[in-house]
Amino acid sequence: MSGCPFLTRKHHRFKAKSSDVDDAQQGINNATKGGISYRDYLQLDKINNAQVLQSELRGKKIHDEHLFIVTHQAYELWFKQIIWELDSVRKVFIHNHVRDERNMLKVVNRIHRITMIFKLLVDQFAVLETMTALDFFDFREYLSSASGFQSLQFRLLENKMGVSENLRVPYNRRHYKDNFHGQESEALHRSEQEPTLLQLVEQWLERTPGLEKDGFNFWGKLQANIEEGFKLEKHKLEKMPDCETKQDMLEDLKKQIEMFTSLFDSKRHDHLLSKGDRRLSYTALQGALMIYFYREEPRFQVPFQFLTYLMEVDVLMTKWRYNHVCMAHRMIGSKAGTGGSSGYHYLRSTVSDRYKVFVDLFNLATFLVPRAWIPILNPSVYKFPYTAECSDSSYSSCGSCSSEED
Ligand code: HEM
Repeated sequence: MSGCPFLTRKHHRFKAKSSDVDDAQQGINNATKGGISYRDYLQLDKINNAQVLQSELRGKKIHDEHLFIVTHQAYELWFKQIIWELDSVRKVFIHNHVRDERNMLKVVNRIHRITMIFKLLVDQFAVLETMTALDFFDFREYLSSASGFQSLQFRLLENKMGVSENLRVPYNRRHYKDNFHGQESEALHRSEQEPTLLQLVEQWLERTPGLEKDGFNFWGKLQANIEEGFKLEKHKLEKMPDCETKQDMLEDLKKQIEMFTSLFDSKRHDHLLSKGDRRLSYTALQGALMIYFYREEPRFQVPFQFLTYLMEVDVLMTKWRYNHVCMAHRMIGSKAGTGGSSGYHYLRSTVSDRYKVFVDLFNLATFLVPRAWIPILNPSVYKFPYTAECSDSSYSSCGSCSSEED
């Protein structure tokens, strides 16, 4: 039933029988009857009294500081919601509920929700940018050492996603954790120890059906097809009459062959992994490429959507960093930050692939090949395994299948 959630069921039934005009007059104040009120439910006394302006100019509060505080609080609330969704997704993976592939829909929905929130957060800077640099200057000194650098939730979010500690840009040769103490520091420590979304996705990708060497052997077949494909292309080019274009095309082909040879070189992969240029294990990378290639097969459609949203989260976080640095530049030029960093220059260096958790998924597009080279899928690979165990096809009514809440 749609409508205000603060109306009781009884009241809704009553409303349904009344005419529209009467409906407009049918108000029952449930707060007076002991039901929870809007204000109490949302703890508005706490939220709306949490804007404590520090500034003062000639005995008056500085107008724009209110916007500054509310904007930061709105960000922090949305960070909280993102962490809430992220934790629930990580839980599905940690408890291995993804073995029932129907739970993937829930995972995908929640990651999608995170992308929608991030879109909002990327755009939200525009509101704060209605404040001019001079207006900000009027109250900046009152912030003393307070800085977004001390946002616990932002760091938790990064860690839970899988931003690698050794890829972080150091600021003033200090560790980002130096800003946190006591319970906050412990929470950060835990977020570094717990499985990150990146690690969980990696394990899930490693189990992609069809990778088994003694089964479909996707990787072996793909390598054979690619080698054969390049051999035929080379043969075709060699038959062309000698000319500059032929040389260019042969040179181009040589580069492509080298690139693909590196794809099948596990040692090279390990080297890139150790440098931080790749983040996923070799097997996980194969699983991801398999999902890319067979994305139209029913079994791979939802996983493909999932990988797409993961990239979207990375893109949006990069946009967030970019919009934030542009705004900081506009507000403080190249002055140092209140948190002690070089300010603009530090922030600019964070708009980089070092912070893209799922960077491998982007780079995989380098290795897409003509459809004709993709190994033909064995029908047993795209059979849904849960259908045998669970005869009930509805999403959550199947008792024997694990759900996220267990
Ligand atoms: C006038 C507006 C703002 C300015 C001038 C500004 C400036 C800065 C600067 C200079 C830093 C670098 C750390 C330091 O030395 O302080 C920083 C970090 C940060 N700020 Fe802002 N900021 C603004 C608004 C915001 C808003 C609205 C948020 C939303 C939560 C935010 C979140 C952060 C976060 C999370 C960091 C850490 C980023 C990282 O280390 O990668 N900032 N900010």
